[in-house]
Amino acid sequence: MHDRRRVGILISGRGSNMRALVERAEDYDVVLVASNKPDARALARARASGVAAASFALEDYDDRAARDAAMADWLAERGVGLVVLAGFMHLLTPAFLERFPERIVNVHPSLLPAFPGAHAVEEQLAAGVAESGATVHLVDEGVDSGPILRQERVPIVAGDTPDSLHERIKQVEHRLLPQVVAELCAR
Ligand code: GRF
Repeated sequence: MHDRRRVGILISGRGSNMRALVERAEDYDVVLVASNKPDARALARARASGVAAASFALEDYDDRAARDAAMADWLAERGVGLVVLAGFMHLLTPAFLERFPERIVNVHPSLLPAFPGAHAVEEQLAAGVAESGATVHLVDEGVDSGPILRQERVPIVAGDTPDSLHERIKQVEHRLLPQVVAELCAR
């Protein structure tokens, strides 16, 4: 049985948003973390915080749909009612999306629909835009294309590098994402 307050997080990278979600989990419970990378250091960090963690590497499955179905089973068996993509770098197939309708959110480092995709920060700097931002949105089959739930602007300053800008965006993400998750868990 799904519980709306039980949150599962999918990651691929450093997991700073995962840490923010765990630290700010007052109105929801982070019950598990899954990664597509077995060596994600963030998995060890999750376990150290008492959160169950597992990896679902594509090479361990026949295809992406089989991997997604296994990952969805793992989340559903543990009663997860909301799935948060926190730097998860794979597109999810219908085998996963259909299991959590309207209950999968993603955080992205731009003012969507501008600059979707994996290189959003670099592309914003290359384009010379005056401001960037953080967006939390519902996930569909597209690349960063689902309905937007919350956005906040982040100024771009002279001398910004991809690292400095991304770091400033993440500061906003770490506040915005737990807020939106808490609101969705209350519904
Ligand atoms: C974040 O900037 C998020 O917006 C994007 O990937 C990054 C993940 O960072 N989708 P982290 O792994 O949470 O530090």
